[in-house]
Amino acid sequence: MNAKRILLLLLGPLFVAQACCAQDKKTDDPFIARPYLQIGRTPSPESLQLLWHAFDTGNDWVVEYQPKANAPWKKADTPTSVRVAVAGIEPHRVFQTALTGLIPGSKFSYRVVKAGKVVFTTEGQASKKTDQPYRFVAFADIGAETPAQKKLASQAYLAKPDFVVVPGDIVYERGLISEYRSRFWPIYNANQVDTSGAPLLRSVPMVVAPGNHDTDTRDLDKYPDALAYYYYWNQPLNGIAGTEGGPLVPSMTASADNRKAFTDAAGEAYLKMSNYSFDYGNSHWTVIDSNPYVDFTDKGLQDWITADLASAKDATWRFVMFHHPGFNSAREHYEQQHTRLLSPIFEAGKVDVVFTGHVHNYQRSYPLTFVPDKKGVLLVASMGAKMARGRVVNGRWTLDKAFNGTTNTRPKGIIYLVTGAGGQTLYNPEQNSDPDSWQRFTDKFYSNVHSFTVADVNGKTLSIRQIDVNGKEIDSFTVTK
Ligand SMILES: [Fe+2]
Repeated sequence: MNAKRILLLLLGPLFVAQACCAQDKKTDDPFIARPYLQIGRTPSPESLQLLWHAFDTGNDWVVEYQPKANAPWKKADTPTSVRVAVAGIEPHRVFQTALTGLIPGSKFSYRVVKAGKVVFTTEGQASKKTDQPYRFVAFADIGAETPAQKKLASQAYLAKPDFVVVPGDIVYERGLISEYRSRFWPIYNANQVDTSGAPLLRSVPMVVAPGNHDTDTRDLDKYPDALAYYYYWNQPLNGIAGTEGGPLVPSMTASADNRKAFTDAAGEAYLKMSNYSFDYGNSHWTVIDSNPYVDFTDKGLQDWITADLASAKDATWRFVMFHHPGFNSAREHYEQQHTRLLSPIFEAGKVDVVFTGHVHNYQRSYPLTFVPDKKGVLLVASMGAKMARGRVVNGRWTLDKAFNGTTNTRPKGIIYLVTGAGGQTLYNPEQNSDPDSWQRFTDKFYSNVHSFTVADVNGKTLSIRQIDVNGKEIDSFTVTK
């Protein structure tokens, strides 16, 4: 008997034991992604959607919930599911049901039952209604599986937000199903709160915008599990829908089979969930796909944003969220200024704050108004390169330097925030202590620490704090009306 065989004989039982336990684990935890709350297609303070992912076997799920403590348990509608069966990934299902009749702003309990056995139980938080104060957390460029991302996930949870917004780059590198599984769900929906993550997604809804790492990869023949953004988020579909190859959406590369697998699973979310809007409390949110493949001079897009902001006439606050900042002082991505073209529309629509990411640090602009002098100049990477690297948009800005967020809280213009220090490697830490390198529109700039944004809205008062990964407040300001 050779040494290899002896080793196999000795280790054989161990392999069997491992196979047995892995199997048991799978049986005990039937989820690929544990239950998470979403605002849904038609958000309301009385309802939330509950989603989870599970293997492609068995439909014997039941969801029960208790709108308030000691109330009778209610049975949610029978969960529906969409099958995701793309090449290279074991088919799975995204399950969903609605939790209705919630009490605005109140905690509720819910549990998920499979085959008659409770497999998940927790508490959630219903959305706030117009006259209730609320808190939200914002961070972008997050799903990178870094220690900072994990710590910030815990901090965000401990900040007790009512909801979370992510201005893009949800998952690195390519927004793949496989990347969501290692870099996203286990961290933002962990069973415990510690430096590896927190049960954030099961407690409050997260609302996301598409970043370049989420929707840039459109070659489904090479990456069949790309564009998972369109499978997993249950958000409004009330915006402008582009057409492939048109001014808002680039063409996709996909065989007939790969395309069918994608569209069967994405449903209406593709192409509608790129631009959308919703109301939360007394605020209106406009979410835009800001990827450079979009033509921001497109009249249809501009008209939709204009109309959407005009429709928010009853909202006290108007917030806009997208990925690519127009007003960025970091060297990285400096030339990607294309979203500046939308500033006049935001100003006409009385936008208060624009939340962005993409640049992996924190920046706050002075309140400003901006007049682009033309549609901008496309830059390419180098001699002979054809791929556009960015669009430089020069123009005239007016800065409100009298606003300080403490004694003067009435900004003249829009405050543009970059909150892209949510987990991925920081950009340009060398500029942190080099104000000479900041553009004139930049008021605050922190590029040497990961951080996230906490915003409190109480009627006509908005208070924003930027908290670093060590829990230290690095910026704060208040806006009043
Ligand atoms: Fe990005």
